[in-house]
Amino acid sequence: MIDKPRLTTSAGAPVSDNQNSETAGARGPVLLQDYQLLEKLAHQNRERIPERVVHAKGWGAYGTLTITKDLSQYTIAKLFGAVGKKTDLLIRFSTVAGEMGAADAERDVRGFAIKFYTDEGNWDLVGNNTPVFFVRDPLKFPDFIHTQKRHPRTNMRSKTAMWDFWSQSPESLHQITTLFSDRGLPVAPMYMNGYGSHTYSFWNEKGERFWVKFHFKTLQGHKHYTNAEAEKIIGQDRESYQAHLFGTIDRGEFPRWRLEVQIMPEADADKTPYNPFDLTKVWPHADYPVIEVGVVELNRNADNYFAEIEQAAFSPSNKVPGIGYSPDKMLQARVFSYADAHRYRLGTHYESIPVNQPKVAVQHYHRDGQMNVYGGIKTGNSDAYYEPNSFGGPVEDKSVKEPPLRIVGDADRYNHRDGNDDYGQPRALFNLFDDAQKGRLFDNLAAAMDGVPDEIIERQLAHFHLIDPAYAQGIRAARAALAGQAKDSISDQESAAAE
Ligand code: NDP
Ligand code: HEM
Repeated sequence: MIDKPRLTTSAGAPVSDNQNSETAGARGPVLLQDYQLLEKLAHQNRERIPERVVHAKGWGAYGTLTITKDLSQYTIAKLFGAVGKKTDLLIRFSTVAGEMGAADAERDVRGFAIKFYTDEGNWDLVGNNTPVFFVRDPLKFPDFIHTQKRHPRTNMRSKTAMWDFWSQSPESLHQITTLFSDRGLPVAPMYMNGYGSHTYSFWNEKGERFWVKFHFKTLQGHKHYTNAEAEKIIGQDRESYQAHLFGTIDRGEFPRWRLEVQIMPEADADKTPYNPFDLTKVWPHADYPVIEVGVVELNRNADNYFAEIEQAAFSPSNKVPGIGYSPDKMLQARVFSYADAHRYRLGTHYESIPVNQPKVAVQHYHRDGQMNVYGGIKTGNSDAYYEPNSFGGPVEDKSVKEPPLRIVGDADRYNHRDGNDDYGQPRALFNLFDDAQKGRLFDNLAAAMDGVPDEIIERQLAHFHLIDPAYAQGIRAARAALAGQAKDSISDQESAAAE
């Protein structure tokens, strides 16, 4: 017989019966003093926490970054400082719009969030599987997300809302073209690239700043589903990504990505024909070639999904010396938004949850708060509870100060569409597609527009026309074919009914 551990209450006392409630007589009602019953029910009522307001459905695993090229000429960040240097990490992949129970194989942008547990604290790179985004001003992010979520009255997703918003936001064209192309529906997380998407910054020992973009290139190759294939998959398995990622790692087959960076000297930002801090634009590779930096490998599943993946808290505000932000307006807003979301979703002390804990000493003067599980204060000395103090409490380290960034301009609300070409880069992407890829793009767009009022469709097609007349024409033809199929299917049903 197995020697089993003893069941206890949450206060540690042994439990005598976990099968039968305490009742007044064998057939009688339960007694209020059966606290174990009450506690079991009360705990169950608190098992769910708020899901993420976006990116609610996700899959994750642990792994390692191994450096293959030393970047110390660009950054003092120690994780990039030597060939062979290894840094532990956690990645959580996700879809954006679906709720926690959404099917995995839905067409949507995929989140690609990485927490690097570096020797100097956590660095979070919270990116997507696309190098650009739908909007470039954070004031529009909540509006955009509302169009992706449910309609307040019908409680259903609304194609009309999506296209109404997009057709009045031409900066979304680059991301729309990506989303409805083949790469908008990967087979599983390991068959897609990841991108930091924003422009970030590096600074080196000499105090020189460089702008930087991060790319994670899949080493498994790109694999995607067509809409029809995905419908079939979802019919059979709503958790296809979880099954694929978890199963692969469990079998010891470890997915890998090549980490590449693009680097721009600080002064170049005034010279590029596009705004290098605009999240709807890439930096063409011909202008800023990629530099291979390392390899990311995922090699360990979480032991408990809720504790380690659901409670993972990623934030663009988490950076380490040598890595900085950029003037990208979207990034600036995200620096605020994520930690705020975590305090609401997980609580004030979300960074004390093991998966979020840095692997270095954490020493600060924040105090108290709900669920403070670290003994009240993190200075290592209870007399040092303010700063400056004479009791050996932690002090600042000027050596990690970021070089100053020159900023000029009058405070105002500038129209971000003025003088901004929203068509050129989507055109470059469209031109990368062969005829078959273009055909699938047209079909995917036509299906996504089905049932949307004509006025909105025409406004959107006018934008596609400005990318390339063949783009708009292709969608029109695909819409006509779809309408024809619908008519055929109605007449088939009518003839079947008549027989
Ligand atoms: P390049 O030809 O030098 O690079 C093309 C890039 O596009 C590669 O990163 C490639 O990724 C990616 N790509 C290739 N096929 C597809 C596809 N079917 N769907 C989506 N992405 C694809 O061109 P440029 O740098 O001049 O960029 C041209 C266009 O490529 C851009 O407008 C942008 O839409 C897209 N792109 C550019 C990126 C960049 O950082 N410059 C990054 C990703 C896309 P891979 O190596 O994995 O095949
Ligand atoms: C999740 C806000 C743009 C990638 C989230 C969450 C919020 C948020 C509040 C939920 C966080 C949580 O509860 O844990 C915003 C705002 C944006 C923005 C305000 C723009 C102003 C972006 C962009 C990207 C991105 C541009 C990618 C480049 C992600 C990812 C997650 C996420 C990957 C999920 C992280 C995880 O796996 O836990 N975002 N977001 N977001 N966002 Fe954004």
